[in-house]
Amino acid sequence: MKVLSIVGARPQFIKAAQVSKALRQRGHGETIVHTGQHYDYSMSQQFFDEMNIPSADINLAVGSGSHGYQLGQMIIKLEEVINDISPDIVVVHGDTNSTLAGALVACKSKVLLAHNEAGLRSFNKTMPEEDNRVLTDHCSDILLCPTQTAVDQLSREGITDGVHLVGDVMYDAALEFQAVADKRSTILTDLKLSAKEYLLVTVHRPYNTDNRDRLGSIMDTLARTDETVILPLHPRTSSLLIEYGIKPTENVQLIDPVGYLDMITLERNARMILTDSGGIQKEAYFYRVPCVTLRPETEWIETVAEGWNRVVDTDPVRILDAVRGQWWPKRQLKIFGNGKASQIIVEILEDVA
Ligand code: UD1
Ligand code: UDP
Repeated sequence: MKVLSIVGARPQFIKAAQVSKALRQRGHGETIVHTGQHYDYSMSQQFFDEMNIPSADINLAVGSGSHGYQLGQMIIKLEEVINDISPDIVVVHGDTNSTLAGALVACKSKVLLAHNEAGLRSFNKTMPEEDNRVLTDHCSDILLCPTQTAVDQLSREGITDGVHLVGDVMYDAALEFQAVADKRSTILTDLKLSAKEYLLVTVHRPYNTDNRDRLGSIMDTLARTDETVILPLHPRTSSLLIEYGIKPTENVQLIDPVGYLDMITLERNARMILTDSGGIQKEAYFYRVPCVTLRPETEWIETVAEGWNRVVDTDPVRILDAVRGQWWPKRQLKIFGNGKASQIIVEILEDVA
């Protein structure tokens, strides 16, 4: 089976890592195409190095730009790659512009398309990811769903053929890399942090960053927590903090984006995580760390239903209330599979391709 995997942004390297490993273990040829959407070492190559992902065979070097620019460049270049390689199946992950570009090209080239993380919905049409998810799902042949909620959502949209409940590949990665991180990460000592005595925060959604008042209000609220706050900055956020002239208070430590091993170490040892990231909401749940979601809604509704995630938008009162409260349960259900999603995915691909 000749698989073409398309990646481009940070969360996709993490999602692709375990699938790529499972493909190799079962002797399949995989061509990895990196669109170049993310390109800084700390946003891209570091994940390949730490997670043992084979180097991308092709890098399209599309880089940053408007949605139209990124999608247009990716589509033109990906079409050439698909024509050259003639894969049996194209695999895309998640909900970024790299996902949508890969999906459109596979669909137009009449190559089988598998979407990993299908069926997720925030129902917020102002988020670029929501368009990417809906459009990708509606042109996919194989829809690999992490949760039953995702399967049910696709059914409501009339998609039932090719839909599989597989679990979450990020959970597979979390299980494998915890022990590796324990051995290799020195981030807690480097930052002089004690376990469960700090808040870990990430903010990168345009909804929060591209609005001075909202980003300013988040930073003000972090100051008011009176707790040690560690905030690894996405490059989008760091440049906007500078542009807006917003400086952190003493309790808030801004750091460069960290690699996966340091990130999961920071997550597992945090007292609480505050984030607008999709993947980090899930990782908080995997590691049984309460999560406060800095968005008006979430696509990972199971984590909220189970009481491990509170969705508070950027309302200072609700954020502070969540940070100061003890509102999460002791127990967890197994909602993200059994840690074998990647193997299940490869078996499904073998059946169809
Ligand atoms: C993208 C995804 C988002 C995902 C996020 C993961 C889309 C529409 N958005 O958002 O769903 O949650 O990745 O992190 O696909 N930049 C750098 N260096 C890099 C990459 C980006 O400096 O290596 C800066 C550039 O100024 C760029 C900005 O970050 O303009 C935004 O990058 P972009 O890929 O457009 O979107 P993200 O916000 O990263
Ligand atoms: N991540 C990381 N270093 C960081 C920030 C995030 O390794 O400095 C990892 C995080 O553990 C998760 C993934 O990147 O696995 C989430 O990516 P991001 O928040 O950029 O995107 P989203 O999931 O919101 O699309």
